[in-house]
Amino acid sequence: MLIKRPQEIPSSEITDRSVYLRRREFLSCSIDAGLTAAALGAFGSLAAPSVLAGEKISGIAKSAYVTDEELTPYESATTYNNFYEFGTAKEDPSLYAKDFRTRPWSVTVEGECARPGTYALEDFLKPHALEERIYRLRCVEAWSMVIPWVGFPLADLIRRFEPTGNAKYVEFTTLLDPQQMPGQRRAVLDWPYVEGLRMDEAMHPLTILAAGMYGEVLPNQNGAPLRLVVPWKYGFKSIKSIVKLRFTEEQPGSTWNRAAPDEYGFYSNVNPERDHPRWSQAKERRIGEFLKRPTLPFNGYADQVASLYTGMDLVNRYF
Ligand code: MTE
Repeated sequence: MLIKRPQEIPSSEITDRSVYLRRREFLSCSIDAGLTAAALGAFGSLAAPSVLAGEKISGIAKSAYVTDEELTPYESATTYNNFYEFGTAKEDPSLYAKDFRTRPWSVTVEGECARPGTYALEDFLKPHALEERIYRLRCVEAWSMVIPWVGFPLADLIRRFEPTGNAKYVEFTTLLDPQQMPGQRRAVLDWPYVEGLRMDEAMHPLTILAAGMYGEVLPNQNGAPLRLVVPWKYGFKSIKSIVKLRFTEEQPGSTWNRAAPDEYGFYSNVNPERDHPRWSQAKERRIGEFLKRPTLPFNGYADQVASLYTGMDLVNRYF
């Protein structure tokens, strides 16, 4: 982002037959809202991360939040990644996150809430039924994908921790572990990676925490074991491998905003009218497609979220 220009898409990423077959297999997965316990079993009962990544999740509930656009091939979504903790090249995360340990894992909740504490991932996830959300993902680098996430509304999780009236924002932090994350041994960014949302954005029904994708446990390179997904914002807001949530009264920092405030705003809503200083945001390249397509305001979710920003200047001030 800061140091690389958007890259051309290699021809290997054009959808092939095996991907279509895989999609059909995926669509035939059992869908049953009542099988939460089975779904949790996939997260809770197995200890070794190498076994977990890619394991099929059963009992994923349907949701109304789907697009019928063609899914990005699994192969592309798991080999063309941004996860600077594992390197800055698109293929680095899939190469260098293979042995990343995502169990045991705990998440700390801090700040303006009634129930702060550190929770084992299994306890953190246990109350939540997992559902599929098929969302567009638009990177600030002007490429996009369509990903079938498996997750649950962040709002449901936030309610459990009873934020106080002073909680105006939520800050999220990624694991800091330079031993496991080779990218953190270089000062490419100010580690650990942090991101933030305004409380109403965090509570919006489109905002989810994802623990899986394509019906399977989240691959390490995509942010295992738990990542944020905010589909109307540029992808860098969707922070990976979360270890901490903090409720704050003041607007929290965000890693890319701190690195280059003129280039990456705190809000970073997808906006074809606000160009990045070094490239246009008017169009984007859908991974696997040749021609560029127009970028949609709020990444096509304007009907659902534009009202969160009424009266705000999203081009010059709150970009
Ligand atoms: N989270 C962390 N911790 N580190 C990162 O480098 N990259 C962001 C976001 N979350 C990033 C991160 C960016 S720029 C994008 S576009 C998305 O993750 C990419 O998600 P994907 O690799 O699953 O497509």
